[in-house]
Amino acid sequence: MQTVCVIGVGKMGSTMVRNIIKTGEYRVVATDVDPNRRMLVKSYGVEVFESNRDAVKNSDLVILAVKPREVEAVLNDVKDLIGGKLVISIAAAVTLKHMEKIAADARFIRVMPNILIEVGEAFIAICPGSRATEEDVELASRVFSRMGEVARVKENLMDAVTGFSGSGPAYVFTIIDAFADAGVKIGLPKELALRIAARMMLGSAKMVLEGKGRPMELRDMVATPGGTTIMGIYELEKGGIRATIMNAVEAAFKRARELSEPLSQTD
Ligand SMILES: NC(=O)c1ccc[n+]([C@@H]2O[C@H](COP(=O)([O-])OP(=O)(O)OC[C@H]3O[C@@H](n4cnc5c(N)ncnc54)[C@H](OP(=O)(O)O)[C@@H]3O)[C@@H](O)[C@H]2O)c1
Repeated sequence: MQTVCVIGVGKMGSTMVRNIIKTGEYRVVATDVDPNRRMLVKSYGVEVFESNRDAVKNSDLVILAVKPREVEAVLNDVKDLIGGKLVISIAAAVTLKHMEKIAADARFIRVMPNILIEVGEAFIAICPGSRATEEDVELASRVFSRMGEVARVKENLMDAVTGFSGSGPAYVFTIIDAFADAGVKIGLPKELALRIAARMMLGSAKMVLEGKGRPMELRDMVATPGGTTIMGIYELEKGGIRATIMNAVEAAFKRARELSEPLSQTD
């Protein structure tokens, strides 16, 4: 059985640990500087280490889930132990070239998931480095496929994917809550309205993903001429819902780029 080592078990790392254990296909070890984080993942039944070096030593695959600003220090610390190994980084902004330069003998893959890995419904972009093999890509895809839909993406799109699908769930949660409030405004109890709102989002997304039609075709199926739905749609359009969403995504992307500039060395 291959051993997967997760370095950094914060929000993303601990969720990945839970997901990977569930497959029953890998032995998982974890490490974190924070003792509380270590305790938490220990309670999932994985072996935890205080030292990244000890954790990496007997692992076949390393997943880096520390904040982008920590990646360089972590790689420098373990670089003599990851030669010949596959290292998957989920850190935003840190380029493959930068990581490959630090650890000259390791093979790297960048993966960009989002918080929806918690329920196995994330969009997971995957981008292999220059030394990664097709088997490495297959292994990374297999490990992450339990957490959502895995798709190969060129590295020059990774920042846009990060700004889009990384922040996106937060917008959708806001929209679900707005729908729930709308339900309350017209007399529904909040909890009931929340369930209805969440179901609407889930079911509508499934219709699109299952190819039942393009979003606007499906919308037109619901909106009959002179009916109730088109009245609501008119209000949405008057409020500039599309432009607002486009502006929100673009603002997040610009901010992500601003924050990532010092980390995006390609030298
Ligand atoms: N959150 C998201 O939605 C999301 C989505 C996609 C990708 N990502 C990427 O995922 C990575 C982790 O994000 P996160 O939200 O899970 O962050 P997080 O909750 O802060 O988790 C990072 C963990 O790593 C620990 N750590 C820091 N330095 C370390 C070191 N040298 N060795 C071992 N552990 C160390 C941190 O401890 P301390 O807190 O004590 O520093 C923390 O427990 C980031 O690079 C981010 O770009 C996040």
